[in-house]
Amino acid sequence: MRLAGKVALITGAGGPMGMGVAKRFAEEGASLIMSDISGTRLAQGVEEVEPSLVPGASIYSQKGSVLVEAEVDALLEGALKQFEQVDIIINVVGGLFLDARYTPVLEVQEERWDMCFTVNMKGIFYLTRKLAPGMLGRNYGKIVNVSSVEYCGAAGHADYAAAKAGVTSLTRSLAEELAPNINVNCIAPGIIRTLAIRDVGEDVAKEFTEKNLLKRMGEPEDIANTALFLASDESSYITGVTIPVSGGLWPAL
Ligand SMILES: NC(=O)c1ccc[n+]([C@@H]2O[C@H](COP(=O)([O-])OP(=O)(O)OC[C@H]3O[C@@H](n4cnc5c(N)ncnc54)[C@H](O)[C@@H]3O)[C@@H](O)[C@H]2O)c1
Repeated sequence: MRLAGKVALITGAGGPMGMGVAKRFAEEGASLIMSDISGTRLAQGVEEVEPSLVPGASIYSQKGSVLVEAEVDALLEGALKQFEQVDIIINVVGGLFLDARYTPVLEVQEERWDMCFTVNMKGIFYLTRKLAPGMLGRNYGKIVNVSSVEYCGAAGHADYAAAKAGVTSLTRSLAEELAPNINVNCIAPGIIRTLAIRDVGEDVAKEFTEKNLLKRMGEPEDIANTALFLASDESSYITGVTIPVSGGLWPAL
């Protein structure tokens, strides 16, 4: 098993993407810290993932927002009572405003601008600051951030694209600052079948699917398998990279 005895913290673990990661990690022997802002989704996620745990592994779950420092502190206080350390962080939380499919940057309001950067980056900032010191002390850690293929720029989603560029940039800065024993990498998903698809609608999802080379929508398992590779020692010579998981859609304008 590729994650035997490891403890992985997964944010947004009640949604399809985070839950998919949690399930895959459980199958490979990890214990899990599952966090989500939605208590209902989190409970469903835990129920779904529990049967995949190997003997001796367990789950700590707590509802809360990774954007609020006090809630992150509460999550870690509880989790670190159950597990002594966190070996892996998978930062899934993020997203874009879908009130309009295409919002020119000239129409983006300040509140949306600020919120977009907070939603996509603040959780990574808090969790890294709080957990990386322990990783540095133990000379072991894996951090995987979730960006988007839109990080190179996306007309109509300029705020989101800029925030996701922030995620890829932060990944590289952290890879350098936390080297040589901690690997920090990033996944840039294309279109993946999650709750976001319900919000954009199947028509838009179909349009994006037709643009990719593999002519299918990505599944949470596609992200989970890449996250597993980056969280395991199979990728021990890889750090600071962003891997598109997008059916061949390349990050570019
Ligand atoms: N789905 C896609 O096609 C796609 C494409 C590119 C990038 N992404 C990125 O993938 C990640 C997951 O996106 P998704 O919405 O598709 O996943 P998802 O549908 O699996 O759900 C995300 C989960 O995060 C939880 N969450 C939201 N805010 C939170 C907070 N503040 N604290 C804790 N939990 C919170 C939600 O309750 C939800 O359960 C995001 O970073 C997103 O930008 C998704």
